[in-house]
Amino acid sequence: MELKFTPLKNDLLLRAARGETVERPPMWVMRQAGRYLPEYHEAKGGRDFFETCRDPEIASTLTLQPVERYAGLLDAAIIFSDILVIPQAMGMVVEMIDKKGPHFPDPLKTPADEQYAEVLARDVDVGKELGYVYKAITLTRKKLDGRVPLIGFCGSPWTLFCYMVEGGGTKLFAQSKTWVYRYPEETKKLLHKISDICVDHLALQVQAGAQLVQVFDSWAGELGPATFKEFSEPFLAHIAQKLPEKLRSMGLDVVPMIVFPKGAWFALDSMCDIGYDVVGLDWLYDPADAVKVRGDRKVTLQGNADPGCLYGSKEGITKAVQTMVDGFWKGQGKGWIANLGHGITPGVDPDNLKHFFEEIHRLTKN
Ligand code: CP3
Repeated sequence: MELKFTPLKNDLLLRAARGETVERPPMWVMRQAGRYLPEYHEAKGGRDFFETCRDPEIASTLTLQPVERYAGLLDAAIIFSDILVIPQAMGMVVEMIDKKGPHFPDPLKTPADEQYAEVLARDVDVGKELGYVYKAITLTRKKLDGRVPLIGFCGSPWTLFCYMVEGGGTKLFAQSKTWVYRYPEETKKLLHKISDICVDHLALQVQAGAQLVQVFDSWAGELGPATFKEFSEPFLAHIAQKLPEKLRSMGLDVVPMIVFPKGAWFALDSMCDIGYDVVGLDWLYDPADAVKVRGDRKVTLQGNADPGCLYGSKEGITKAVQTMVDGFWKGQGKGWIANLGHGITPGVDPDNLKHFFEEIHRLTKN
């Protein structure tokens, strides 16, 4: 069943994602609803992070904050949630520790562990476990009233797997690498299980009102070319293949899909062929080189300024924008969604993000 909402007044992002020629590049930034905004802290108060995700009223308020602050500049909203709601739906406990990040008190240890068998055997009903995400999406679509499209998202199987075995953030990836190099088949079984849950979660987000979806493979770059091909790419491809099938079977229209394989510069060529409409790039790519690798394939590139440029001066930010505009946009007029190369970081002055958007606008005007 398809829900009815106000038609979009600004569908620039959807047109650019489909590879159409557009009047200017659409822009949004990863993690645009978050800690750099004073209004985020005000609305969140002392609440636990996952509690805010589970409250559709607060989650929709937080989603709308950047849309309101940057009205007329920002071309998308991204639902306020987290990639770690999938491990939660799979029965794992995940806490968010203030100023430290996510923490799993009981991560997966080895395939011989009882928990591994339990997680694999568990029949996960995301409709039941993550109903609050879908409610938040529907409520946000109503509040957006057609101002900009709403993006839904999930973590990639590989990135979620890393969190599930590491138990939180890491620099070494010791547990993830132990699994990859010691238990490759058991690792793939789990990645496959996570992939199917990703498909279900994205499909229900679309049913609830998400107009485009992004898969965050934030830890793609921890793998090398050969191991990425084995432990991440097939599962990203599985999602790209199964999601449209699932949407059609639910009587829903297919939506554009974005993949963000952070750090996996070696994979750009194959990422352009596995079924995504948009490939997100981090700041380690030279925009003009990435455009060359894409060639004439109908894939839109998204990114990719260093998020750290927003700690810079106005001139520093303008220079970073100019590099993107020259590489992605000049002489093209399509195939680019302006963004940072990763999420916006805490401590950034929100006015610097405004300058970033204004400069993209100014430098891409015909
Ligand atoms: O504005 C948006 O982009 C929507 C919301 C969003 C959040 N997390 C909210 C959040 C999105 C899209 C995410 C995705 C996410 N979550 C990713 C992929 C993107 C990336 O950065 O690579 C990852 C790896 C996570 C897991 C996660 N969640 C971490 C590692 C942390 C702590 C450290 C950090 O960078 O914030 C979180 C917490 C989190 N997720 C916050 C927000 C606003 C901060 C919570 C707080 O302290 O108030």
